[in-house]
Amino acid sequence: MFKPFYVLLALLPLAATLQEPAPIPALVIPPEAAALVNPTKSTPQGLAMARKMYGYDCAMCHGANGNGKGELVDSMKLTLKDYTDRASLQSRTDGELFYIIQKGSGPMTGEGDRQKPAEIWNMVTLVRSFAKN
Ligand code: HEC
Repeated sequence: MFKPFYVLLALLPLAATLQEPAPIPALVIPPEAAALVNPTKSTPQGLAMARKMYGYDCAMCHGANGNGKGELVDSMKLTLKDYTDRASLQSRTDGELFYIIQKGSGPMTGEGDRQKPAEIWNMVTLVRSFAKN
Protein backbone atom coordinates (compact mmCIF):
# COMPACT_ATOMS: atom_id res chain seq x y z
CA MET A 1 0.00 0.00 0.00
CA PHE A 2 1.44 3.42 -1.03
CA LYS A 3 0.19 5.64 1.82
CA PRO A 4 1.51 9.08 0.77
CA PHE A 5 -0.63 8.78 -2.35
CA TYR A 6 -3.82 8.50 -0.25
CA VAL A 7 -2.73 11.39 1.95
CA LEU A 8 -2.32 13.50 -1.18
CA LEU A 9 -5.74 12.41 -2.46
CA ALA A 10 -7.31 13.42 0.84
CA LEU A 11 -5.69 16.85 0.60
CA LEU A 12 -6.91 17.56 -2.93
CA PRO A 13 -10.30 19.07 -1.95
CA LEU A 14 -8.51 21.35 0.52
CA ALA A 15 -6.10 22.50 -2.20
CA ALA A 16 -9.09 23.31 -4.42
CA THR A 17 -10.70 25.51 -1.76
CA LEU A 18 -7.43 27.41 -1.28
CA GLN A 19 -7.34 28.49 -4.91
CA GLU A 20 -8.09 32.09 -5.82
CA PRO A 21 -11.62 32.65 -7.17
CA ALA A 22 -11.58 32.40 -10.95
CA PRO A 23 -10.97 35.86 -12.45
CA ILE A 24 -13.59 37.22 -14.85
CA PRO A 25 -12.35 36.12 -18.27
CA ALA A 26 -11.17 38.96 -20.48
CA LEU A 27 -13.66 39.73 -23.20
CA VAL A 28 -12.50 38.42 -26.56
CA ILE A 29 -14.23 40.13 -29.48
CA PRO A 30 -13.95 38.28 -32.80
CA PRO A 31 -12.18 40.50 -35.39
CA GLU A 32 -15.07 40.15 -37.85
CA ALA A 33 -17.47 41.47 -35.18
CA ALA A 34 -15.15 44.35 -34.29
CA ALA A 35 -14.92 45.32 -37.98
CA LEU A 36 -18.71 45.74 -38.42
CA VAL A 37 -19.77 49.25 -39.39
CA ASN A 38 -22.93 50.78 -37.91
CA PRO A 39 -25.51 50.32 -40.72
CA THR A 40 -28.22 52.43 -39.08
CA LYS A 41 -28.57 56.17 -39.65
CA SER A 42 -28.81 58.31 -36.55
CA THR A 43 -32.40 59.57 -36.43
CA PRO A 44 -34.24 61.41 -33.64
CA GLN A 45 -36.71 58.48 -33.42
CA GLY A 46 -33.97 55.88 -33.21
CA LEU A 47 -32.14 57.85 -30.53
CA ALA A 48 -35.35 58.37 -28.55
CA MET A 49 -36.03 54.63 -28.56
CA ALA A 50 -32.45 53.88 -27.56
CA ARG A 51 -32.65 56.44 -24.75
CA LYS A 52 -35.78 54.77 -23.38
CA MET A 53 -34.16 51.34 -23.44
CA TYR A 54 -30.99 52.79 -21.94
CA GLY A 55 -33.06 54.14 -19.06
CA TYR A 56 -34.45 50.67 -18.34
CA ASP A 57 -31.40 48.48 -18.98
CA CYS A 58 -28.24 50.53 -18.64
CA ALA A 59 -28.60 53.72 -16.58
CA MET A 60 -28.53 51.90 -13.22
CA CYS A 61 -24.89 51.09 -13.90
CA HIS A 62 -23.63 53.53 -16.54
CA GLY A 63 -25.54 56.58 -15.21
CA ALA A 64 -28.41 58.45 -16.89
CA ASN A 65 -25.98 60.60 -18.90
CA GLY A 66 -23.36 57.86 -19.36
CA ASN A 67 -20.91 59.22 -16.79
CA GLY A 68 -20.42 55.74 -15.24
CA LYS A 69 -21.98 56.66 -11.90
CA GLY A 70 -25.26 54.72 -11.84
CA GLU A 71 -26.92 53.73 -8.58
CA LEU A 72 -25.61 50.11 -8.68
CA VAL A 73 -21.95 51.12 -8.99
CA ASP A 74 -21.24 51.23 -5.25
CA SER A 75 -23.05 48.03 -4.22
CA MET A 76 -21.59 46.06 -7.16
CA LYS A 77 -18.15 47.67 -6.75
CA LEU A 78 -18.00 48.61 -10.43
CA THR A 79 -15.51 50.97 -12.02
CA LEU A 80 -17.08 52.21 -15.22
CA LYS A 81 -15.81 54.46 -17.94
CA ASP A 82 -17.14 58.00 -18.22
CA TYR A 83 -18.73 58.14 -21.69
CA THR A 84 -19.16 61.91 -21.44
CA ASP A 85 -15.40 61.99 -22.03
CA ARG A 86 -14.85 61.24 -25.72
CA ALA A 87 -11.49 59.63 -25.00
CA SER A 88 -13.19 56.86 -22.99
CA LEU A 89 -14.48 55.04 -26.09
CA GLN A 90 -11.93 56.22 -28.62
CA SER A 91 -10.14 52.86 -28.81
CA ARG A 92 -13.40 50.99 -29.42
CA THR A 93 -14.91 50.40 -32.86
CA ASP A 94 -18.68 50.58 -33.30
CA GLY A 95 -18.59 46.83 -33.97
CA GLU A 96 -16.95 46.25 -30.59
CA LEU A 97 -19.59 48.37 -28.81
CA PHE A 98 -22.34 46.45 -30.60
CA TYR A 99 -20.78 43.15 -29.56
CA ILE A 100 -20.46 44.19 -25.92
CA ILE A 101 -24.02 45.56 -25.73
CA GLN A 102 -25.39 42.38 -27.32
CA LYS A 103 -23.28 39.80 -25.49
CA GLY A 104 -22.42 41.59 -22.25
CA SER A 105 -19.06 41.87 -20.51
CA GLY A 106 -18.24 40.52 -17.05
CA PRO A 107 -20.98 41.69 -14.63
CA MET A 108 -22.86 43.34 -17.49
CA THR A 109 -25.61 41.17 -19.00
CA GLY A 110 -25.98 41.66 -22.73
CA GLU A 111 -29.24 42.54 -24.45
CA GLY A 112 -29.06 39.25 -26.34
CA ASP A 113 -32.21 38.64 -28.39
CA ARG A 114 -34.28 41.13 -26.40
CA GLN A 115 -33.36 43.84 -28.90
CA LYS A 116 -33.17 43.64 -32.66
CA PRO A 117 -29.76 44.38 -34.22
CA ALA A 118 -31.01 47.76 -35.51
CA GLU A 119 -32.03 48.69 -31.96
CA ILE A 120 -28.62 47.73 -30.62
CA TRP A 121 -26.95 49.84 -33.31
CA ASN A 122 -29.08 52.75 -32.10
CA MET A 123 -27.70 52.09 -28.61
CA VAL A 124 -24.19 52.33 -30.03
CA THR A 125 -25.09 55.72 -31.52
CA LEU A 126 -26.59 56.81 -28.20
CA VAL A 127 -23.57 55.72 -26.16
CA ARG A 128 -21.31 57.67 -28.56
CA SER A 129 -23.60 60.71 -28.25
CA PHE A 130 -22.90 61.03 -24.51
CA ALA A 131 -19.45 62.48 -25.29
CA LYS A 132 -19.33 66.24 -24.82
CA ASN A 133 -15.79 67.16 -25.78
C1 HEC B 1 -24.87 45.59 -14.03
C2 HEC B 1 -24.27 46.81 -14.52
C3 HEC B 1 -24.31 47.09 -16.00
C4 HEC B 1 -25.41 47.23 -16.81
C5 HEC B 1 -26.88 47.07 -16.41
C6 HEC B 1 -24.92 47.57 -18.13
N1 HEC B 1 -23.56 47.62 -18.10
FE1 HEC B 1 -22.35 48.11 -19.67
N2 HEC B 1 -20.74 47.61 -18.60
C7 HEC B 1 -20.73 47.24 -17.28
C8 HEC B 1 -19.38 46.85 -16.92
C9 HEC B 1 -18.94 46.39 -15.54
C10 HEC B 1 -18.58 47.01 -18.06
C11 HEC B 1 -17.08 46.74 -18.20
C12 HEC B 1 -16.30 47.88 -17.60
C13 HEC B 1 -16.26 49.08 -18.49
O1 HEC B 1 -15.91 48.92 -19.67
O2 HEC B 1 -16.54 50.22 -18.07
C14 HEC B 1 -19.46 47.49 -19.11
C15 HEC B 1 -19.05 47.79 -20.39
C16 HEC B 1 -19.84 48.41 -21.33
C17 HEC B 1 -19.39 48.91 -22.60
C18 HEC B 1 -17.97 48.76 -23.15
C19 HEC B 1 -17.04 49.85 -22.75
C20 HEC B 1 -15.65 49.47 -23.16
O3 HEC B 1 -15.02 50.22 -23.87
O4 HEC B 1 -15.19 48.41 -22.76
C21 HEC B 1 -20.45 49.46 -23.24
C22 HEC B 1 -20.48 50.14 -24.61
C23 HEC B 1 -21.59 49.31 -22.36
N3 HEC B 1 -21.18 48.67 -21.21
C24 HEC B 1 -22.86 49.73 -22.64
C25 HEC B 1 -23.98 49.32 -21.94
C26 HEC B 1 -25.33 49.46 -22.40
C27 HEC B 1 -25.74 50.17 -23.69
C28 HEC B 1 -26.13 48.88 -21.46
C29 HEC B 1 -27.63 48.70 -21.51
C30 HEC B 1 -28.14 47.98 -22.64
C31 HEC B 1 -25.27 48.40 -20.39
N4 HEC B 1 -23.98 48.67 -20.73
C32 HEC B 1 -25.73 47.80 -19.23
C33 HEC B 1 -21.81 47.23 -16.45
C34 HEC B 1 -23.13 47.32 -16.84
